[in-house]
Amino acid sequence: MIRTPIIAAATLVVVAFSGCETTSTSAPPVRGAMVQAAAREQVDEQTLIAGRELLLRRCTECHSLPVVSEHPRAEWPVILQRMSGRANLTPAQHAGVLAYILAAHG
Ligand code: HEC
Repeated sequence: MIRTPIIAAATLVVVAFSGCETTSTSAPPVRGAMVQAAAREQVDEQTLIAGRELLLRRCTECHSLPVVSEHPRAEWPVILQRMSGRANLTPAQHAGVLAYILAAHG
């Protein structure tokens, strides 16, 4: 009897951690190398952070979080051209999401 809550808690921990991992590989947090790569394209850190937030929030309205590494770099501008209209992004938001995706892609 006493074991059940422990197993339930252990399961929760596993689920919580795997959830985290999925998010970080699909849309990794903005980090140093990413910021440096973006700076070369005249994109600042705030833009990247805002772009990632938009991706997490607005690009999950119709489907699960798109995985940045699942599409080649050259394909993303074309995909985003289609998707930012669907997500009702302003041109500035569109640019931010694209900048984040390209920086995260590496
Ligand atoms: C209003 C609904 C909607 C929103 C919001 C939306 N999508 Fe989509 N997305 C779709 C649908 C429907 C498909 C599958 C059909 C297609 O490719 O047109 C799709 C497919 C995709 C694919 C797979 C494309 C491929 O060619 O394999 C990617 C990647 C994607 N979306 C990224 C995004 C991103 C990034 C955003 C945020 C800017 C976004 N989506 C927002 C509806 C949406």
